[in-house]
Amino acid sequence: MHELTTWLSGTADPRTFPYPAVLREFHRVGKHFVEKELLALLDETRARVAGATAAAGDNRARLLSDFLDVTLDKWDGRYDYRSYLALRLLRLPCGTDDPPPAEDDATARRARDRLFVRLVADALAFELAAAAHTTDLLPQQRPGRPVVTKRCRLGVRAALPPLARLGLVGAVGDDEPATTAAALHAVAAGLDADGDPPLRLSMLPVHVTHDEYLFIRVLQAYECLFAGVADELRVAVAALAGAAPRAAADRLGYAGDLIGAAGPLFSLLATMQTESFRTFRQYTEGASAIQSRSYKLVESLCRTPEGDRLDSVAYRSVPEVRSLVRAGQPTIDEAYRSAVRAGRLDGAGRMLVARRMETFAGALSQWRRTHHRIATRMLGPRSGTGYTEGTPYLAAVRDVPVFTAVTAGSRPVDPIGGRTA
Ligand code: HEM
Repeated sequence: MHELTTWLSGTADPRTFPYPAVLREFHRVGKHFVEKELLALLDETRARVAGATAAAGDNRARLLSDFLDVTLDKWDGRYDYRSYLALRLLRLPCGTDDPPPAEDDATARRARDRLFVRLVADALAFELAAAAHTTDLLPQQRPGRPVVTKRCRLGVRAALPPLARLGLVGAVGDDEPATTAAALHAVAAGLDADGDPPLRLSMLPVHVTHDEYLFIRVLQAYECLFAGVADELRVAVAALAGAAPRAAADRLGYAGDLIGAAGPLFSLLATMQTESFRTFRQYTEGASAIQSRSYKLVESLCRTPEGDRLDSVAYRSVPEVRSLVRAGQPTIDEAYRSAVRAGRLDGAGRMLVARRMETFAGALSQWRRTHHRIATRMLGPRSGTGYTEGTPYLAAVRDVPVFTAVTAGSRPVDPIGGRTA
Protein backbone atom coordinates (compact mmCIF):
# COMPACT_ATOMS: atom_id res chain seq x y z
CA MET A 1 0.00 0.00 0.00
CA HIS A 2 2.80 2.36 -0.91
CA GLU A 3 0.41 5.11 -2.13
CA LEU A 4 -0.97 5.41 1.39
CA THR A 5 2.39 5.21 3.17
CA THR A 6 3.75 7.88 0.82
CA TRP A 7 0.74 10.07 1.50
CA LEU A 8 1.14 9.59 5.26
CA SER A 9 4.81 10.43 5.14
CA GLY A 10 4.05 13.74 3.41
CA THR A 11 1.67 16.49 4.45
CA ALA A 12 -1.31 14.10 4.59
CA ASP A 13 -3.44 16.62 2.75
CA PRO A 14 -7.07 15.34 2.49
CA ARG A 15 -7.25 16.74 -1.04
CA THR A 16 -4.62 14.29 -2.26
CA PHE A 17 -5.72 11.18 -0.35
CA PRO A 18 -5.20 8.11 -2.60
CA TYR A 19 -8.86 7.01 -2.76
CA PRO A 20 -8.47 4.89 -5.94
CA ALA A 21 -5.64 2.82 -4.45
CA VAL A 22 -7.51 2.21 -1.18
CA LEU A 23 -10.73 1.34 -3.00
CA ARG A 24 -8.83 -1.04 -5.27
CA GLU A 25 -7.56 -2.95 -2.26
CA PHE A 26 -10.99 -3.12 -0.60
CA HIS A 27 -12.56 -4.29 -3.87
CA ARG A 28 -9.87 -6.89 -4.54
CA VAL A 29 -10.80 -8.96 -1.48
CA GLY A 30 -13.98 -7.47 0.00
CA LYS A 31 -14.24 -5.36 3.14
CA HIS A 32 -14.41 -8.39 5.41
CA PHE A 33 -11.01 -9.61 4.21
CA VAL A 34 -8.95 -6.44 4.00
CA GLU A 35 -5.48 -6.89 5.46
CA LYS A 36 -4.83 -5.63 8.97
CA GLU A 37 -1.78 -3.64 7.82
CA LEU A 38 -3.94 -1.51 5.52
CA LEU A 39 -6.56 -1.01 8.22
CA ALA A 40 -3.84 0.07 10.66
CA LEU A 41 -2.65 2.65 8.11
CA LEU A 42 -6.22 3.91 7.69
CA ASP A 43 -6.52 4.13 11.46
CA GLU A 44 -3.37 6.26 11.48
CA THR A 45 -4.87 8.39 8.71
CA ARG A 46 -7.95 8.95 10.84
CA ALA A 47 -5.84 10.26 13.69
CA ARG A 48 -4.03 12.60 11.27
CA VAL A 49 -7.19 14.07 9.76
CA ALA A 50 -9.10 14.40 13.04
CA GLY A 51 -7.74 17.91 13.59
CA ALA A 52 -8.32 18.97 10.00
CA THR A 53 -11.97 17.82 10.14
CA ALA A 54 -12.55 20.01 13.11
CA ALA A 55 -11.64 23.02 10.99
CA ALA A 56 -14.99 24.43 9.93
CA GLY A 57 -15.95 24.23 6.28
CA ASP A 58 -13.25 21.82 5.16
CA ASN A 59 -15.27 19.60 2.84
CA ARG A 60 -12.36 17.44 1.69
CA ALA A 61 -11.40 16.61 5.27
CA ARG A 62 -15.01 15.80 6.07
CA LEU A 63 -15.27 13.53 3.04
CA LEU A 64 -12.14 11.69 4.07
CA SER A 65 -13.35 11.36 7.63
CA ASP A 66 -16.70 9.92 6.42
CA PHE A 67 -14.86 7.53 4.13
CA LEU A 68 -12.65 6.32 6.99
CA ASP A 69 -15.72 5.88 9.14
CA VAL A 70 -17.05 3.42 6.56
CA THR A 71 -13.79 1.63 5.84
CA LEU A 72 -12.88 1.15 9.51
CA ASP A 73 -16.24 -0.11 10.79
CA LYS A 74 -15.20 -3.76 11.03
CA TRP A 75 -11.78 -2.83 12.44
CA ASP A 76 -13.49 -0.75 15.16
CA GLY A 77 -16.09 -3.45 15.85
CA ARG A 78 -19.01 -1.12 15.02
CA TYR A 79 -19.96 -2.46 11.61
CA ASP A 80 -23.70 -2.03 11.03
CA TYR A 81 -26.32 -1.24 8.40
CA ARG A 82 -25.47 2.44 8.24
CA SER A 83 -21.77 1.89 7.77
CA TYR A 84 -22.36 -1.02 5.36
CA LEU A 85 -24.41 1.30 3.14
CA ALA A 86 -22.15 4.32 3.70
CA LEU A 87 -25.23 6.38 4.52
CA ARG A 88 -23.21 9.28 5.90
CA LEU A 89 -21.12 9.49 2.74
CA LEU A 90 -24.35 9.64 0.75
CA ARG A 91 -25.60 12.42 3.04
CA LEU A 92 -28.52 10.25 4.07
CA PRO A 93 -29.82 10.32 7.64
CA CYS A 94 -28.12 7.85 9.95
CA GLY A 95 -28.91 9.20 13.40
CA THR A 96 -25.85 11.22 14.28
CA ASP A 97 -24.33 14.17 12.53
CA ASP A 98 -27.16 14.19 10.00
CA PRO A 99 -27.02 16.74 7.20
CA PRO A 100 -29.11 19.86 7.75
CA PRO A 101 -32.41 19.85 5.81
CA ALA A 102 -32.37 21.53 2.39
CA GLU A 103 -33.43 25.15 2.42
CA ASP A 104 -36.79 24.41 0.79
CA ASP A 105 -39.01 21.41 -0.02
CA ALA A 106 -38.56 21.54 -3.77
CA THR A 107 -34.77 21.50 -3.41
CA ALA A 108 -34.93 18.57 -1.00
CA ARG A 109 -37.21 16.57 -3.30
CA ARG A 110 -35.00 17.20 -6.32
CA ALA A 111 -31.85 16.25 -4.42
CA ARG A 112 -33.42 12.93 -3.40
CA ASP A 113 -34.68 12.27 -6.92
CA ARG A 114 -31.20 12.92 -8.32
CA LEU A 115 -29.56 10.61 -5.83
CA PHE A 116 -32.13 7.86 -6.42
CA VAL A 117 -31.60 8.00 -10.18
CA ARG A 118 -27.82 8.03 -9.82
CA LEU A 119 -27.85 4.99 -7.54
CA VAL A 120 -30.05 2.93 -9.84
CA ALA A 121 -28.17 4.05 -12.95
CA ASP A 122 -24.87 3.12 -11.34
CA ALA A 123 -26.15 -0.37 -10.48
CA LEU A 124 -27.14 -0.89 -14.11
CA ALA A 125 -23.86 0.52 -15.41
CA PHE A 126 -22.04 -2.10 -13.35
CA GLU A 127 -24.23 -4.84 -14.84
CA LEU A 128 -23.45 -3.62 -18.35
CA ALA A 129 -19.73 -3.28 -17.68
CA ALA A 130 -19.52 -6.79 -16.21
CA ALA A 131 -21.47 -8.25 -19.14
CA ALA A 132 -19.10 -6.49 -21.55
CA HIS A 133 -16.06 -7.75 -19.56
CA THR A 134 -14.81 -4.21 -19.08
CA THR A 135 -14.57 -4.51 -15.30
CA ASP A 136 -13.01 -7.08 -13.02
CA LEU A 137 -14.80 -5.73 -9.96
CA LEU A 138 -16.61 -8.40 -7.86
CA PRO A 139 -15.90 -11.18 -10.34
CA GLN A 140 -17.62 -14.12 -8.62
CA GLN A 141 -20.95 -15.58 -9.79
CA ARG A 142 -21.65 -13.23 -12.70
CA PRO A 143 -25.27 -13.44 -13.89
CA GLY A 144 -26.13 -14.55 -17.44
CA ARG A 145 -27.29 -12.26 -20.26
CA PRO A 146 -31.04 -12.75 -19.73
CA VAL A 147 -30.71 -11.68 -16.08
CA VAL A 148 -28.69 -8.60 -17.06
CA THR A 149 -31.36 -7.63 -19.60
CA LYS A 150 -34.08 -8.09 -17.00
CA ARG A 151 -32.15 -5.96 -14.52
CA CYS A 152 -31.78 -3.18 -17.09
CA ARG A 153 -35.51 -3.23 -17.83
CA LEU A 154 -36.55 -3.17 -14.16
CA GLY A 155 -33.94 -0.63 -13.11
CA VAL A 156 -34.95 1.82 -15.82
CA ARG A 157 -38.59 1.35 -14.81
CA ALA A 158 -37.74 2.13 -11.17
CA ALA A 159 -35.91 5.30 -12.23
CA LEU A 160 -38.67 6.64 -14.49
CA PRO A 161 -40.87 8.36 -11.85
CA PRO A 162 -38.02 10.48 -10.38
CA LEU A 163 -36.68 11.10 -13.89
CA ALA A 164 -40.11 12.37 -14.90
CA ARG A 165 -40.20 14.69 -11.90
CA LEU A 166 -36.79 16.00 -12.94
CA GLY A 167 -38.16 16.59 -16.45
CA LEU A 168 -35.69 14.14 -17.99
CA VAL A 169 -37.74 11.15 -18.99
CA GLY A 170 -37.43 11.82 -22.71
CA ALA A 171 -33.63 11.59 -22.52
CA VAL A 172 -33.75 7.85 -21.78
CA GLY A 173 -35.94 6.75 -24.68
CA ASP A 174 -37.72 3.41 -25.00
CA ASP A 175 -35.20 1.31 -26.88
CA GLU A 176 -34.20 -2.21 -25.84
CA PRO A 177 -33.24 -2.56 -22.12
CA ALA A 178 -29.43 -2.40 -22.37
CA THR A 179 -29.62 0.71 -24.55
CA THR A 180 -32.04 2.52 -22.24
CA ALA A 181 -29.92 1.52 -19.23
CA ALA A 182 -26.86 3.01 -20.94
CA ALA A 183 -28.86 6.15 -21.75
CA LEU A 184 -29.99 6.33 -18.12
CA HIS A 185 -26.38 6.14 -17.02
CA ALA A 186 -25.44 8.97 -19.38
CA VAL A 187 -28.27 11.14 -18.02
CA ALA A 188 -27.34 10.30 -14.41
CA ALA A 189 -23.73 11.32 -15.04
CA GLY A 190 -24.94 14.87 -15.55
CA LEU A 191 -27.05 14.88 -12.42
CA ASP A 192 -24.52 15.29 -9.64
CA ALA A 193 -24.64 18.87 -8.57
CA ASP A 194 -21.84 20.61 -6.72
CA GLY A 195 -21.45 19.07 -3.29
CA ASP A 196 -23.31 15.84 -4.15
CA PRO A 197 -21.60 12.77 -2.73
CA PRO A 198 -19.30 10.77 -5.04
CA LEU A 199 -21.00 7.39 -5.48
CA ARG A 200 -17.83 5.39 -6.03
CA LEU A 201 -16.77 5.87 -2.40
CA SER A 202 -20.07 4.44 -1.17
CA MET A 203 -19.57 0.99 -2.73
CA LEU A 204 -17.68 -1.16 -0.24
CA PRO A 205 -18.97 -4.72 -0.49
CA VAL A 206 -17.96 -7.21 2.19
CA HIS A 207 -17.11 -9.88 -0.39
CA VAL A 208 -16.35 -10.23 -4.10
CA THR A 209 -19.68 -11.65 -5.30
CA HIS A 210 -21.15 -9.78 -8.26
CA ASP A 211 -24.68 -9.45 -6.89
CA GLU A 212 -23.64 -7.65 -3.74
CA TYR A 213 -23.27 -4.53 -5.88
CA LEU A 214 -26.96 -4.66 -6.78
CA PHE A 215 -27.94 -5.43 -3.19
CA ILE A 216 -26.09 -2.39 -1.84
CA ARG A 217 -27.40 0.02 -4.47
CA VAL A 218 -31.02 -1.15 -4.05
CA LEU A 219 -30.81 -0.75 -0.27
CA GLN A 220 -29.27 2.70 -0.68
CA ALA A 221 -32.00 3.70 -3.12
CA TYR A 222 -34.66 2.59 -0.65
CA GLU A 223 -32.91 4.52 2.12
CA CYS A 224 -33.03 7.61 -0.08
CA LEU A 225 -36.72 7.00 -0.67
CA PHE A 226 -37.61 6.44 3.00
CA ALA A 227 -35.71 9.58 3.99
CA GLY A 228 -37.91 11.49 1.53
CA VAL A 229 -41.08 9.82 2.82
CA ALA A 230 -40.16 10.74 6.40
CA ASP A 231 -39.70 14.38 5.34
CA GLU A 232 -43.14 14.42 3.71
CA LEU A 233 -44.82 12.85 6.73
CA ARG A 234 -43.24 15.33 9.12
CA VAL A 235 -44.70 18.20 7.12
CA ALA A 236 -48.06 16.39 6.89
CA VAL A 237 -48.22 16.15 10.69
CA ALA A 238 -47.57 19.88 11.00
CA ALA A 239 -50.17 20.64 8.33
CA LEU A 240 -52.80 18.59 10.17
CA ALA A 241 -51.98 20.36 13.40
CA GLY A 242 -52.28 23.69 11.60
CA ALA A 243 -55.66 22.79 10.06
CA ALA A 244 -54.35 22.69 6.48
CA PRO A 245 -56.02 19.51 5.16
CA ARG A 246 -55.14 20.12 1.52
CA ALA A 247 -51.42 20.46 2.32
CA ALA A 248 -51.52 17.37 4.56
CA ALA A 249 -53.29 15.37 1.85
CA ASP A 250 -50.77 16.50 -0.78
CA ARG A 251 -47.86 15.36 1.39
CA LEU A 252 -49.46 12.03 2.16
CA GLY A 253 -50.23 11.56 -1.53
CA TYR A 254 -46.67 12.37 -2.56
CA ALA A 255 -45.25 10.03 0.10
CA GLY A 256 -47.57 7.19 -0.92
CA ASP A 257 -46.64 7.67 -4.58
CA LEU A 258 -42.94 7.51 -3.71
CA ILE A 259 -43.36 4.09 -2.11
CA GLY A 260 -45.86 2.76 -4.66
CA ALA A 261 -43.85 3.82 -7.72
CA ALA A 262 -40.66 2.21 -6.42
CA GLY A 263 -42.14 -1.29 -6.74
CA PRO A 264 -39.81 -2.21 -9.65
CA LEU A 265 -36.90 -1.73 -7.27
CA PHE A 266 -38.01 -4.82 -5.36
CA SER A 267 -38.51 -6.69 -8.65
CA LEU A 268 -34.96 -5.69 -9.52
CA LEU A 269 -33.67 -7.05 -6.23
CA ALA A 270 -35.64 -10.24 -6.75
CA THR A 271 -33.33 -11.03 -9.69
CA MET A 272 -30.51 -11.50 -7.21
CA GLN A 273 -29.16 -15.05 -7.29
CA THR A 274 -30.00 -16.73 -3.98
CA GLU A 275 -26.64 -18.53 -3.95
CA SER A 276 -24.83 -15.21 -4.26
CA PHE A 277 -26.89 -13.65 -1.50
CA ARG A 278 -26.20 -16.57 0.79
CA THR A 279 -22.50 -16.31 0.00
CA PHE A 280 -21.95 -12.67 0.85
CA ARG A 281 -24.42 -12.49 3.77
CA GLN A 282 -22.05 -14.72 5.76
CA TYR A 283 -20.03 -11.53 6.22
CA THR A 284 -22.86 -9.05 6.85
CA GLU A 285 -23.79 -10.30 10.31
CA GLY A 286 -24.73 -7.29 12.44
CA ALA A 287 -25.85 -5.14 9.50
CA SER A 288 -29.61 -5.28 9.05
CA ALA A 289 -32.21 -2.84 7.78
CA ILE A 290 -33.86 -3.26 11.16
CA GLN A 291 -31.35 -0.49 11.97
CA SER A 292 -32.82 1.79 9.30
CA ARG A 293 -33.53 5.09 10.99
CA SER A 294 -35.58 6.43 8.09
CA TYR A 295 -37.87 3.39 7.93
CA LYS A 296 -38.59 3.51 11.66
CA LEU A 297 -39.15 7.25 11.43
CA VAL A 298 -41.72 6.63 8.72
CA GLU A 299 -43.47 4.00 10.81
CA SER A 300 -43.45 6.05 14.00
CA LEU A 301 -44.54 9.27 12.28
CA CYS A 302 -47.63 7.45 11.07
CA ARG A 303 -48.59 6.14 14.49
CA THR A 304 -46.93 5.75 17.89
CA PRO A 305 -45.74 2.14 18.10
CA GLU A 306 -47.23 -0.07 20.81
CA GLY A 307 -45.15 -0.40 23.99
CA ASP A 308 -44.01 -3.95 23.27
CA ARG A 309 -42.77 -3.02 19.80
CA LEU A 310 -41.05 0.08 21.15
CA ASP A 311 -39.26 -2.09 23.69
CA SER A 312 -38.37 -4.82 21.21
CA VAL A 313 -35.32 -5.20 18.96
CA ALA A 314 -37.29 -3.30 16.29
CA TYR A 315 -36.80 0.03 18.09
CA ARG A 316 -33.85 -0.89 20.27
CA SER A 317 -31.94 -1.10 16.97
CA VAL A 318 -32.68 2.60 16.33
CA PRO A 319 -32.18 4.22 19.74
CA GLU A 320 -32.44 7.79 18.46
CA VAL A 321 -35.86 7.12 16.91
CA ARG A 322 -36.95 5.30 20.07
CA SER A 323 -35.98 8.38 22.08
CA LEU A 324 -37.99 10.63 19.76
CA VAL A 325 -41.05 8.43 20.23
CA ARG A 326 -40.63 8.32 23.98
CA ALA A 327 -40.30 12.11 24.00
CA GLY A 328 -43.75 12.33 22.38
CA GLN A 329 -43.01 12.67 18.68
CA PRO A 330 -46.30 13.80 17.07
CA THR A 331 -47.91 11.44 14.56
CA ILE A 332 -50.30 11.61 11.62
CA ASP A 333 -52.73 9.29 13.42
CA GLU A 334 -52.93 11.47 16.50
CA ALA A 335 -52.89 14.78 14.62
CA TYR A 336 -55.81 13.53 12.53
CA ARG A 337 -57.79 12.44 15.59
CA SER A 338 -57.16 15.72 17.42
CA ALA A 339 -58.10 17.79 14.40
CA VAL A 340 -61.38 15.87 14.00
CA ARG A 341 -62.13 16.02 17.73
CA ALA A 342 -61.49 19.78 17.83
CA GLY A 343 -63.71 20.34 14.78
CA ARG A 344 -60.77 21.61 12.70
CA LEU A 345 -61.09 18.79 10.18
CA ASP A 346 -64.44 17.80 8.78
CA GLY A 347 -66.47 17.44 5.59
CA ALA A 348 -64.59 17.22 2.32
CA GLY A 349 -61.23 18.04 3.94
CA ARG A 350 -61.55 15.15 6.33
CA MET A 351 -62.58 12.73 3.60
CA LEU A 352 -59.66 13.81 1.45
CA VAL A 353 -57.10 13.33 4.23
CA ALA A 354 -58.61 9.99 5.25
CA ARG A 355 -58.46 8.74 1.66
CA ARG A 356 -54.82 9.73 1.32
CA MET A 357 -54.00 8.06 4.63
CA GLU A 358 -55.65 4.87 3.40
CA THR A 359 -53.75 4.98 0.12
CA PHE A 360 -50.49 5.58 1.94
CA ALA A 361 -51.20 2.71 4.34
CA GLY A 362 -51.95 0.51 1.31
CA ALA A 363 -48.62 1.37 -0.32
CA LEU A 364 -46.62 0.71 2.87
CA SER A 365 -48.47 -2.54 3.54
CA GLN A 366 -47.77 -3.66 -0.01
CA TRP A 367 -44.09 -2.82 0.53
CA ARG A 368 -44.06 -4.98 3.67
CA ARG A 369 -45.73 -7.91 1.91
CA THR A 370 -43.29 -7.79 -1.01
CA HIS A 371 -40.34 -7.46 1.36
CA HIS A 372 -41.52 -10.50 3.28
CA ARG A 373 -41.90 -12.50 0.05
CA ILE A 374 -38.42 -11.60 -1.18
CA ALA A 375 -36.85 -12.28 2.20
CA THR A 376 -38.54 -15.70 2.30
CA ARG A 377 -37.17 -16.57 -1.11
CA MET A 378 -33.64 -15.36 -0.44
CA LEU A 379 -33.30 -16.41 3.16
CA GLY A 380 -35.41 -19.52 3.62
CA PRO A 381 -35.52 -20.55 7.30
CA ARG A 382 -32.27 -18.73 8.21
CA SER A 383 -32.25 -16.09 10.92
CA GLY A 384 -31.83 -12.39 10.11
CA THR A 385 -28.60 -10.44 10.31
CA GLY A 386 -30.37 -8.07 12.72
CA TYR A 387 -30.71 -10.74 15.41
CA THR A 388 -34.34 -11.67 14.78
CA GLU A 389 -35.51 -15.14 13.87
CA GLY A 390 -35.79 -13.90 10.26
CA THR A 391 -38.94 -14.17 8.19
CA PRO A 392 -41.26 -15.07 11.12
CA TYR A 393 -40.43 -11.59 12.49
CA LEU A 394 -41.32 -10.03 9.14
CA ALA A 395 -44.55 -12.03 8.93
CA ALA A 396 -45.54 -10.74 12.36
CA VAL A 397 -44.77 -7.06 11.66
CA ARG A 398 -46.24 -7.15 8.15
CA ASP A 399 -49.72 -6.68 9.56
CA VAL A 400 -48.98 -4.02 12.18
CA PRO A 401 -51.56 -1.31 11.34
CA VAL A 402 -50.03 1.76 9.69
CA PHE A 403 -52.80 3.96 11.13
CA THR A 404 -55.67 3.24 13.48
CA ALA A 405 -57.66 6.40 12.81
CA VAL A 406 -58.48 5.08 9.34
CA THR A 407 -58.31 1.57 7.97
CA ALA A 408 -57.49 0.64 4.38
CA GLY A 409 -60.53 0.38 2.15
CA SER A 410 -62.93 1.80 4.70
CA ARG A 411 -64.42 5.11 5.69
CA PRO A 412 -62.70 7.02 8.49
CA VAL A 413 -63.02 5.57 11.94
CA ASP A 414 -64.66 7.86 14.44
CA PRO A 415 -61.90 9.27 16.66
CA ILE A 416 -63.88 8.19 19.69
CA GLY A 417 -63.94 4.61 18.50
CA GLY A 418 -67.01 3.92 16.29
CA ARG A 419 -67.33 4.28 12.53
CA THR A 420 -68.59 7.55 11.05
CA ALA A 421 -72.00 7.60 9.44
C1 HEM B 1 -32.46 -10.21 0.04
C2 HEM B 1 -33.30 -9.29 0.42
C3 HEM B 1 -33.71 -9.09 1.83
C4 HEM B 1 -33.76 -9.97 2.87
C5 HEM B 1 -33.40 -11.46 2.86
C6 HEM B 1 -34.22 -9.25 4.02
C7 HEM B 1 -34.40 -9.79 5.27
C8 HEM B 1 -34.81 -9.11 6.39
C9 HEM B 1 -34.95 -9.68 7.71
C10 HEM B 1 -34.72 -11.14 8.08
C11 HEM B 1 -35.33 -8.70 8.53
C12 HEM B 1 -35.61 -8.80 10.03
C13 HEM B 1 -34.50 -8.17 10.82
C14 HEM B 1 -33.24 -9.01 10.84
O1 HEM B 1 -33.08 -9.88 11.69
O2 HEM B 1 -32.36 -8.74 10.01
C15 HEM B 1 -35.44 -7.49 7.74
C16 HEM B 1 -35.84 -6.27 8.23
C17 HEM B 1 -35.98 -5.15 7.46
N1 HEM B 1 -35.66 -5.01 6.13
FE1 HEM B 1 -35.08 -6.47 4.89
N2 HEM B 1 -34.44 -7.94 3.67
C18 HEM B 1 -34.13 -7.81 2.34
C19 HEM B 1 -34.19 -6.65 1.60
C20 HEM B 1 -34.54 -5.42 2.08
C21 HEM B 1 -34.55 -4.21 1.33
C22 HEM B 1 -34.17 -4.03 -0.13
C23 HEM B 1 -34.94 -3.23 2.17
C24 HEM B 1 -35.06 -1.78 1.83
C25 HEM B 1 -34.51 -0.87 2.60
C26 HEM B 1 -35.20 -3.82 3.46
C27 HEM B 1 -35.65 -3.16 4.56
C28 HEM B 1 -35.90 -3.74 5.78
C29 HEM B 1 -36.43 -3.00 6.91
C30 HEM B 1 -36.80 -1.53 6.92
C31 HEM B 1 -36.47 -3.89 7.96
C32 HEM B 1 -36.97 -3.59 9.38
C33 HEM B 1 -38.44 -3.95 9.45
C34 HEM B 1 -39.00 -3.80 10.85
O3 HEM B 1 -38.25 -3.75 11.83
O4 HEM B 1 -40.24 -3.72 10.94
N3 HEM B 1 -34.93 -5.15 3.37
N4 HEM B 1 -35.13 -7.77 6.45
